[in-house]
Amino acid sequence: MAQLWGGRFTKDTDQLVYNFNASISFDQKFMEQDIEGSIAHVVMLEKQGILTEAEKNAIVKGLSDIREDVKSGRLEITDEYEDIHSFVEANLIERIGDAGKKLHTGRSRNDQVALDMKLYTRQEILGIDALIRELLVTLQDIMKDNLETYMPGFTHLQKAQPITLAHHMGAYFEMFKRDRQRLKDIYYRMNYCPLGAGALAGTTYPLDRSYTASLLGFEGPTLNSMDSVSDRDYLIELLSAMSTVMMHLSRFSEEIIIWNSNEYRFVEIDDAYSTGSSIMPQKKNPDIAELVRGKTGRVYGALMSLLTTMKGIPLAYNKDMQEDKELTFDAIDTVKGCLALFTGMLKTMRFHKEVMAKSATSGFTNATDAADYLVGHGVPFRDAHSMIGRLVLYCIDKNCAIDDLSIEELKEISDVFEEDIYDAISLKTCVKKRLTIGAPGPEAMKQVLAMNQEYLDHDWQDTCGSKELE
Ligand code: ARG
Repeated sequence: MAQLWGGRFTKDTDQLVYNFNASISFDQKFMEQDIEGSIAHVVMLEKQGILTEAEKNAIVKGLSDIREDVKSGRLEITDEYEDIHSFVEANLIERIGDAGKKLHTGRSRNDQVALDMKLYTRQEILGIDALIRELLVTLQDIMKDNLETYMPGFTHLQKAQPITLAHHMGAYFEMFKRDRQRLKDIYYRMNYCPLGAGALAGTTYPLDRSYTASLLGFEGPTLNSMDSVSDRDYLIELLSAMSTVMMHLSRFSEEIIIWNSNEYRFVEIDDAYSTGSSIMPQKKNPDIAELVRGKTGRVYGALMSLLTTMKGIPLAYNKDMQEDKELTFDAIDTVKGCLALFTGMLKTMRFHKEVMAKSATSGFTNATDAADYLVGHGVPFRDAHSMIGRLVLYCIDKNCAIDDLSIEELKEISDVFEEDIYDAISLKTCVKKRLTIGAPGPEAMKQVLAMNQEYLDHDWQDTCGSKELE
């Protein structure tokens, strides 16, 4: 047991207590951020005359060496230390002696851990955002190629009106674009540095908090030391945004599972992204899509868990907050894994365009357009709706599509029908006439594609703070 405290204790910690309390098994994940934060802290301490230049240099070198040694495997992080902060500080003191004992001047583990977690999650936000961008690029590529790939659009999972594959993919483009906007908002809202808040009430040392903040790529220092050490709102926002990403991925997965089924056959998932059965030789299962759908629950769970953990915590720091880490790390890793795999699956998936188009020609997806045709010839919409309703009933009885009826049969319902009805209710026309922005008509879709491209070409990450620092 190597602890940073113990002076006021007369007994050793019970081993079970030690194990229960320790966080090194998971907070070693932000070892690099812990060192980055400590380096910024001592650079500031020296600027303020709290450390000498020699002390600062020794500490910076010692910390950099620890980082390199851990990364190269020369130094192992073991559970003999309570947490990653103790591990780094104890190693530093071992390496450089007394100067190392000054590292923690004007700092508490409470502001230190708040900083480490922010540095770690800030970088992960950029990583998740980049993966969503990759998914958007994939969607945009599919859209460009499928402006006239017809398929049925559904409501209640019943065929409704004809759309195109481009339009269907475009719906997900919008969802994931909003997901990125949420991540960007969170990034900018959280990007204030808690270091210097101390345990809860600031410190008596003349720290330059703005300087530390700027060294670490933050907008500035946080403005209330109690809030600084106990704010986990940004993690809740991140978990919420990640839950929404998963919800979108899960809906999309569900559609792909349906489309990939023997009954639909709209798509075929590539062999590299499918799995087989140990007993049924014919099987090729959409396990990746199912796992993405399934893992959504884990991320929702993390959000609920942290909300519940935070709801009863009085100001300022309480140890409950240590619970933020494992679940956030797990949620981040889950979301990143799902995004990467989902995009790979989508990129390699084959679309059976003829099956989709054929499906769109059955199920009366052009019934609305047939009613609109009547409206175009002066029939009030409500009457037209009822006439086409009767026509559909007649077709169901005859087991045919509206397009299959003769002009005589059509005229029995309304004498305004002429030969041009067949073109008016063809798949191509039904889609083409939907020209308002946001609709599936290829002309409307082309405008959206151009806007999407503009959006993809101007990436917010190119101008955000921490990227500039790299
Ligand atoms: N492992 C702790 C955490 O994750 C670090 C902060 C410890 N602070 C304390 N006062 N015990 O929150």
